Amino acid sequence: MQKRDAIRAIKERLKLVDIARRYVELKRNGLRWMAPCPFHQETKPSFSINEDTGLFYCFGCQASGDLFDFYGRINGLDFRECLEQLAVEAGIELGTLQDGSSAGDGAGPQRRHSERQQILRMYELAAAHYAQNLAGAGGVACRAYIERRGVDKEQVERFGLGYALPEWRDLVDVLRRSGCDESLAVKSGLLGQSNKGGYSRTYDRFRGRLIFPIRNLSNQVIAFGGRIIGNEDEAKYINSADSTIYKKGDQLYALSQARRHIAVKGTVLLTEGYMDVLTLHQFGYEHAVGVLGTALTSEQVKRLSGFTSQVTLLFDGDTAGRKAAQRACGLLLPRGIACKVVLLPHGQDVDELLHGQGGEAFEKLLAAAPDGLRFCLETVKRHMAPREAVIWARDFLKDLVELPELYYQFASSLAHALNLSEAELKGGVIARQKGAVAPGKGIASSGAGGTGLDFERQILRFMARYPHRCQDLQEAGADVFLRTSRGRNLWKKFFAHPADEIQYHLDEQEKAFWMRCRTGEAPPLDNEEGERVPLLRKIAALHKRMVSSSVAAALRGAAGTDDFTADMEYIVALRETQRTDDE
Ligand code: CTP
Ligand code: MN
Repeated sequence: MQKRDAIRAIKERLKLVDIARRYVELKRNGLRWMAPCPFHQETKPSFSINEDTGLFYCFGCQASGDLFDFYGRINGLDFRECLEQLAVEAGIELGTLQDGSSAGDGAGPQRRHSERQQILRMYELAAAHYAQNLAGAGGVACRAYIERRGVDKEQVERFGLGYALPEWRDLVDVLRRSGCDESLAVKSGLLGQSNKGGYSRTYDRFRGRLIFPIRNLSNQVIAFGGRIIGNEDEAKYINSADSTIYKKGDQLYALSQARRHIAVKGTVLLTEGYMDVLTLHQFGYEHAVGVLGTALTSEQVKRLSGFTSQVTLLFDGDTAGRKAAQRACGLLLPRGIACKVVLLPHGQDVDELLHGQGGEAFEKLLAAAPDGLRFCLETVKRHMAPREAVIWARDFLKDLVELPELYYQFASSLAHALNLSEAELKGGVIARQKGAVAPGKGIASSGAGGTGLDFERQILRFMARYPHRCQDLQEAGADVFLRTSRGRNLWKKFFAHPADEIQYHLDEQEKAFWMRCRTGEAPPLDNEEGERVPLLRKIAALHKRMVSSSVAAALRGAAGTDDFTADMEYIVALRETQRTDDE
């Protein structure tokens, strides 16, 4: 089956409104359904679904998309996982999925798909084998280690812990007997490969290690973390490399085990280590997940935001931990996710704290944890050099330009903390954006009337609304009026992808724009001619004028603005769209 057909078939059977109703309380409001947004913290209903288009949109946080976006976001699933689960719900047999798009890397979609299946199978085999090792005669040392670390049987079971024997060819043999493709096993990071004397040999990468399987939300094993047992000379942890089935920064350790508890408790504990997660679960904190040895990424935040809009960060109390916590706040707060920060007493991690001092000590820390903004303000004031602090504050505010409510709240607190006037701090942010659109250097205001950002937006807006008319605009030469690199990129995308797939190829800003053009307060899509004719007329008129005044040359010259400026212009343009749309 073609992916495109599968998407269409699923959408025919499952309606966004019906799915969304499971998660939010929808109330009818004219042509739309409204509810408090499940993707950011709020009480008033900013979240809306348009039943005709099957699209949702949040006026507060700009979350937007179709059935797949909604389902993926609320359940923290990637697109393929969504497709698989929704197909089951819709009673559609996916069979072997064809990608539809051409694969750039030379490997056909068919092959990549089966590669994914093969790697999943190898990881499943390996996980079972490692678990067997742990339970068997060879697992004595590892079982003793687990006991010494105070991990109980229940966690060993729940997390499917295992043991990689201190041998070079244990897993190699298992995979070989099962007829696995060894080069894939190497590629997926399960096996290593050495080339000595012209011979290529595979060997076990994980040796003499306690194994932590990492699962995706469909509960499939997609990677391993391995902690060294005994031999202290080797790296403490090694992890599976990124592969067709695993990308480190996209996953959270134990999310598949914790998801239900996160949803029920409405909050999540985010920590750093494998062992910390295990111990938290053992002490009854079953809504704990791990970031898997990276700084928190926006992809992980997106996953979490499907389950909850409240996060408690557990970080080391040293300088690095504080920095990491602040960076994490910078990712969470602008997305409307509330957070709290627990910095652990110096040199301790949660695992040591719980085992050493018990749940009560931890509860005390939780109770005393400042909320994310207060934590950031304190860090900015006490732990950062002024210059560094101002830069942080401005970057932080920059991420908030599309959330005016939060923007003003945070801006005044930050200004206060930094001893700046609000105007100065806000000015720093807003002036930079204003500067970018300021007329003068551009031709927007230099007599070419209507060839500025407004017009670019008008063109793109029409294309977003009536994708089957893009050709008309191209023939009319509308592209010379695109002034920003973002605008030109979006234009290219409109031609590169079929209308019903375009949204999967847009970045967040583009998508927000695209959505605004089609949903929310945008006029209904029933006046195509009424919009098309005047637009084409205007393009023709401008072309005429351009030729005579050679504005064209100026325009093309201005097209070389650096990307930063262009990006900022686009943000401002988006906000303007927002304003006109909201009027
Ligand atoms: N980590 C990693 N690779 C490393 C070191 C650390 O992936 N070389 C990740 C692991 O997920 C690890 C986490 O970072 O759990 C925290 O590292 P660390 O504090 O050094 O280890 P602990 O989790 O405390 O492990 P243990 O308690 O077993 O010493
Ligand atoms: Mn530890």
